[in-house]
Amino acid sequence: MFAGKKILIGVSGSIAAYKIVHLVRLLVKAKAEVQVIMTPAAKEFVTPLTLATLSKKEVLTDLATGNTWANHVALGRWADLLLIAPLSCNTLAKMANGHCDNLLLSVYLSATCPVMVSPAMDEDMWQHPATKKNINTLKAFGHIVLAPHHGELASGLIGEGRMEEPEQIIRQIEAFFAGQSSDLSGKKVLITAGPTHEAIDPVRFIGNHSSGKMGYALAIECRRRGAAVTLVLGPAPGIRKQDLAGITVINVVAAEEMYQACREQFATTDIAIMAAAVADYRPDQASNTKIKKQEGGLELQLVKTKDILASLGAIKSEKQLLVGFALETNNEESNALEKLQKKNADFIVLNSLSDGAAFGADTNKITIYSKAGEKFSFDTKSKDEIARDIIDTILQNNANQTI
Ligand code: CTP
Repeated sequence: MFAGKKILIGVSGSIAAYKIVHLVRLLVKAKAEVQVIMTPAAKEFVTPLTLATLSKKEVLTDLATGNTWANHVALGRWADLLLIAPLSCNTLAKMANGHCDNLLLSVYLSATCPVMVSPAMDEDMWQHPATKKNINTLKAFGHIVLAPHHGELASGLIGEGRMEEPEQIIRQIEAFFAGQSSDLSGKKVLITAGPTHEAIDPVRFIGNHSSGKMGYALAIECRRRGAAVTLVLGPAPGIRKQDLAGITVINVVAAEEMYQACREQFATTDIAIMAAAVADYRPDQASNTKIKKQEGGLELQLVKTKDILASLGAIKSEKQLLVGFALETNNEESNALEKLQKKNADFIVLNSLSDGAAFGADTNKITIYSKAGEKFSFDTKSKDEIARDIIDTILQNNANQTI
C-alpha cells in the first residue's frame, strides 16, 4: 500500500507511545520506509530498541552522538510525510512557537514535507485554551491534525484526548497520499456550508433546514484531491469535527460572521464554493433580553444580510474560480441563470426542491450552469458523488483554464 513512501515518525512523551509500536509494524508491513525519531521523554514510555527492530532502522534521538551530527535538514527533506504521534502537549506547544531543543523539533522546523499530528493528552489539557490555540496554530500552518477521541485516558478518567488508533492513522495516511498526487494539490479552496442563525433574542433565531452535508462533501472531496481546504461552517450539528481532519474549519453562527470570514480568506483562495444557505434577512436589532409574550401579534423589523457570493464576485480576479448554489422551487433555470450573472460567479449549481433535492438528505440532483453558457445535468446521486461531479465539471470547463 505504501511502497516507495518514506515516512518519518516523531514520537513524543505520552503513554499513547505504546500504540506506535503497532503503527510502525503496520506501516512496515504495508511497505513504507519508516524512520523513527524520539524525544528524550518518549524514551521513558517505549524503548528505541523495540522501534528500531520493527522499523529496521536505527531510531534517532539526539542531535549529535559522539562526533556524528544527525542531519535534521536532510531528514526533513527525505520524508514524504512527517507524522508526529503521539503529540504531547509539550511538543505541541513547542511546535506552535518554533522552539528547537531536541532532534524531533529541529527536524520538524526544517521539514519541507507535509506534517500530520495525532495528539494524545488528558481531557483537561486538551480543552485548555492554550492547547486549543496551539492546535489552531498548527492547522494554520497547514498541518493535518487527527483529532483525539473520547474514551478511557491514562489518568483513569473518561474524556476526550485519546490518541487515534493505529489502524485509523493508517487510513488517514492512505487518504493523504491518495489526495496528494491529484489535481487540486497546491490549491486553496474556500467552502461555505450549513445554515446561518440570525438572533431575534438570546433564545430565538431565524434559521433554515440546511444540514451542511453538501458543503461538507465538497470539503472532503477537495481535501482528497490535495487542496488546502477552509470550511466556513454555520451551525450544523450533524457535521462531526472528528471527520474534518486536515480541513481548516471556521465555525460561525450569523451571516455577518460568515461574510467576514470569507472576506478574510478570499484573497489567498483559488476556488471559492458557496454552498451555505445564508439567511437573506436578519432582525434589525436583536433584543438583549428574551422577548416576552404580549397581547396581539409581534412585528419584527428585518434588514437584508450581505450577499457573500455577490460580494466575492465583485472583487474576484481572473485567476479565481467562484461557484455558487441556487436553491429553487420554481422557474429554476431562469432564476439560476440570473444568479450566475448577477453575482458574477463562474458556475452556479442548481438544486431544485421540486426535482429530487431535499434538505438533510444524503442524495441530491443538480444541474450546473457555466458563465460560458454551458449546461451540465446529472442524475440523483449521493452527495459524495455530486461533490466529485461538481469539482470535475468546474476543473474541466473553466474558461480561463487558470486552475
Ligand atoms: N448567498 C450568499 N449570501 C447571501 C445569500 C446567498 O453568499 N446572503 C449565496 C448562497 O450560498 C448560494 C447563492 O448565494 O451560493 C444563492 O443562494 P440562494 O439562497 O439560492 O439565493 P438568494 O441569492 O438568497 O436569492 P433568493 O433567496 O431570492 O432565491
